[in-house]
Amino acid sequence: FCFLLGRRRRRQGEPPLENGFLPYLGCALQFGANPLEFLKEKQKKHGHIFTCHVAGKYIHFLTDPFSYCALMRQGKHLDWKKFHFATSAKAFGHGSIDPAEGNTTENFHQTFIRTLQGNALDALIEAMMENLQYVMLQSRTPKLQSNTWVTEGLYTFCCQVMFESGFLTLFGKEFNSNNDKNLSSKQETERAHILNALENFKEFDKIFPALVAGLPIHLFKSAHSAREKLGEALLHKNLLKRDNLSELVTLRMFLNDTLSTFDDMEKAKTHVAVLWASQANTIPATFWTLFFLLKSPEAMRAATKEVRSILESAEENISLDGKRISLNRKQLDNMPILDSIIKEAMRLSSASMTFRVAKEDFTLHLENDFYNIRKDDVVALYPQLLHFDPEIYADPLTFKYDRFLNENGEEKTDFYRNGRKLKYYYMPFGTGIAKCPGRLFAVHEIKQFLTLMLSYFEIELVDNDVKCPSLDQSRAGLGILQPSNDIDFRYRLKCL
Ligand code: HEM
Repeated sequence: FCFLLGRRRRRQGEPPLENGFLPYLGCALQFGANPLEFLKEKQKKHGHIFTCHVAGKYIHFLTDPFSYCALMRQGKHLDWKKFHFATSAKAFGHGSIDPAEGNTTENFHQTFIRTLQGNALDALIEAMMENLQYVMLQSRTPKLQSNTWVTEGLYTFCCQVMFESGFLTLFGKEFNSNNDKNLSSKQETERAHILNALENFKEFDKIFPALVAGLPIHLFKSAHSAREKLGEALLHKNLLKRDNLSELVTLRMFLNDTLSTFDDMEKAKTHVAVLWASQANTIPATFWTLFFLLKSPEAMRAATKEVRSILESAEENISLDGKRISLNRKQLDNMPILDSIIKEAMRLSSASMTFRVAKEDFTLHLENDFYNIRKDDVVALYPQLLHFDPEIYADPLTFKYDRFLNENGEEKTDFYRNGRKLKYYYMPFGTGIAKCPGRLFAVHEIKQFLTLMLSYFEIELVDNDVKCPSLDQSRAGLGILQPSNDIDFRYRLKCL
């Protein structure tokens, strides 16, 4: 009977099995509706490891943070690439980037690490600082001129500012040899192109969860066309017309041209993948950070004080006469209060899931017991369980700006469960070999955004008693969740 329903039976030595009620889908609908509640309920029923049948896959969830180390140690039986490669090809529409399949010999992960970390990060930070100020002060000038309050949706604002600045930082600026156009009209045209790319990005991003779940993009006409337009904008021939391309994009173009057999559009789509990775989580993370800051006067006071003191020690003056603030990586690294605020906002909003696929039948050894895992099964971690665990984070649903600070005001790294110190307690960027290569840049850019917002603007919520928006669960498993509704805020230039 199980066989007829496409389900399997639990064998001896395997974790407890939840087949779900529906043929093929198994537990998919219950899991999709609210993954955190679903997993908590199954954890209560079965304990720290259990298997769920989700849309034809068998996923073993490990819920005890002490067993995360065990999983990392047994990496040789597990594959992290196949799933990522297949998902990227499916969602963005390029050919396989798995070197085993012969389209390219590029090691993408190495390229990302090389161009997003180390010395390359300094250049990204420098460019982002300049671009953020250009976007906040110059490109949005019409709105700011009268020095009166501007009211806007906070998510809409974060989306526009981070997308435009991030886009310019990675993909540079259009250089325009057309001399009869004046600078401001060139800038306006450029801005219109980027805001158009943002509209296409949003249209495509909406259906991203459906693509990851395996639905073909042809089912979504406008999202499909939006993805093609993004690809068009990022064709090598168009990128070559831009100045100040980041090292990441320059190197990726070179490797596309020298190591791959991709056609022009496929090459462009590998850049669409990079654009998506650089924005899809950063935008909601920026929103949550600024939202919680605006809701917490205590956090706002502490952050403002830290920003003021770092600017003073860097001898940077805030002015509106065209001279920009510049803070280098070392100075930005010396802002533990902003670090703690960003971490806390991401703890509350992140729902990334870590997947590994079993390369063969093997026995998974955990701390005190072991389980048989079958080839092609998925082993998964869902760190939101950890982030919302009241034993690790007292009062876990409350934003506490100093949660990640110790008594000396430095980064706090000791978190405990059952009296034992945890190695893994904070995982919005994933973990192990596949950890986000852009994580350092992401935190720096959010920190730069906050520093500039607090320096140049007076900002406040339109309604101070506004309720915290709920997390939109449709993206659960994919990173930072978006708010289910926008929140109005207002801002105006400070009188400097
Ligand atoms: C992958 C989170 C920002 C580039 C990932 C993964 C997560 C993640 C969870 C998958 C890791 C895994 O599978 O275990 C985030 C969050 C961000 C952020 C929460 C912001 C708050 C960025 C930025 C960039 C970036 C700004 C680039 C500029 C990438 C790339 C990958 C990735 C290229 C794929 C890595 C690979 O497969 O080799 N990110 N990310 N991310 N991220 Fe980020």
